Amino acid sequence: MEMKDMVSYAGSHGFVYQGSEIYGGLANSWDYGPMGSLLKENLKNAWIKAFVQKRADMTLLDSSILMNPQVWITSWHVGGFSDPLMDCRACKQRLRADKLIEEYAETSGDDEMPKEWAGESTPPENLTQYINEKGIKCPFCGAKEFTDIRKFGLMFKTSQGVTEDSASQIYLRPETAQGIFINFAQIVRTSRRKVPFGVAQVGKAFRNEITPGNFVFRTREFEQMEIEYFCEPESIAPGKHLECHAKWKEDCWNFLIDTIGIRPESLRFRDHGPDELSFYSAATSDIEYKFPFGWGELWGIADRTDYDLGAHMKESKQDLSYFDPFTNQKYIPYVIEPSVGLNRLMLVTMLNAYDEVESGEWKRAILRFKPSVAPVKVAILPLVKKLSTEAKSVYSLLSEHFVCEYDEAGAIGKRYYRMDEIGVPFSICIDSENFEQKQVTVRDRDTGTQETVKIDDLVEFFRKKGC
Ligand code: GAP
Repeated sequence: MEMKDMVSYAGSHGFVYQGSEIYGGLANSWDYGPMGSLLKENLKNAWIKAFVQKRADMTLLDSSILMNPQVWITSWHVGGFSDPLMDCRACKQRLRADKLIEEYAETSGDDEMPKEWAGESTPPENLTQYINEKGIKCPFCGAKEFTDIRKFGLMFKTSQGVTEDSASQIYLRPETAQGIFINFAQIVRTSRRKVPFGVAQVGKAFRNEITPGNFVFRTREFEQMEIEYFCEPESIAPGKHLECHAKWKEDCWNFLIDTIGIRPESLRFRDHGPDELSFYSAATSDIEYKFPFGWGELWGIADRTDYDLGAHMKESKQDLSYFDPFTNQKYIPYVIEPSVGLNRLMLVTMLNAYDEVESGEWKRAILRFKPSVAPVKVAILPLVKKLSTEAKSVYSLLSEHFVCEYDEAGAIGKRYYRMDEIGVPFSICIDSENFEQKQVTVRDRDTGTQETVKIDDLVEFFRKKGC
């Protein structure tokens, strides 16, 4: 499936709409429709259940989007968080130099990256030299002449209060993570968690991306689900943080496969090489998904050492160290950071669920969501309109427990197919004969098989099916 087909499918089935559409849209902004917002909510809840509710070593936080600007100066985002930009002299297309090199290395098989390569900290001159040496061409017109590379800051600025001078300038957060670090001492004090423990947070983040695109893969406004898992530092327990990093890689991978139902063959790990690692990171791995445009990052799992807590402690002059009551040792913990984009996870879930089935002469689409993540769990469909009172009584019973759809318009077959298109795992057909015997027919989306179930047993039946 090409991405443009998914954009159109998601739009026509109530998952994701073009943002501000009635005013001609706002580039790369998207609104989540009735199905999309339920799906996103289910993914978020599944993540919270797996990584917070089911784990005694985890807790949740909801920090502000707007923070003291010093947070972003200390964390290097102000000044450091930027993309290297250049323009093609021939077609004037604006390009990200680092992405161009990455794509070149991947497609040409020439993955011998320059020694100086170090992600965001690579000086622009080194990128220019590499592009010239390899003769990399503009992907739009094939020319090899580019402007000088400039660093373009990704922070979204806004101003607070009535004046718009530099003193009132603040930023929209570009990640949720820093909210966890600056609240670390309060969380330790109030939650009484002992290292190792983690803090999870879901929330909006904003980046003034230069090359947004690929639908909701990269946007300027998005949601992150981030965890900061604090563990003993190298000086206290050598190698422990690396074990912890390996365990988080496994847990995130298993979550995608077992909880969300992503096919393992569409996923791979990509460990960052020493040249690519940030200077403070001991290890970083990405879980990548095979998108229609190629492999792309879905989930980053980084060992950030004690960099963030150390930097905030130095700058704020507050004590952000941890006192271990069992060993009487005081230290700044290391941190493992698994960070995934909620919108990106939703896109992956939709691409993974999309299927087509042959139905006579025509093909029809079906979304094979796992029942636990499906936006709607049960459709209630009276065989004929005059059974609407009976069908609505079943709707009232089930909607106490599950998100349900009610539809009485059109032939029953067509209504089944409509439910398949939005990924409803079970449809109930109400007919008078069965209803008189206090039972209904339940159709399974994936097999098309039908089963008679007592109305009194329906809630338990759907629970057992994982709804
Ligand atoms: N705190 C670490 C951090 O923010 P990141 O790799 O920049 O790391 C983490 O972002 C995850 O957030 C990515 O793996 C991706 O899923 C998601 N993400 C990042 N930028 C995004 C964007 N512009 N649009 C949508 N999702 C994005």
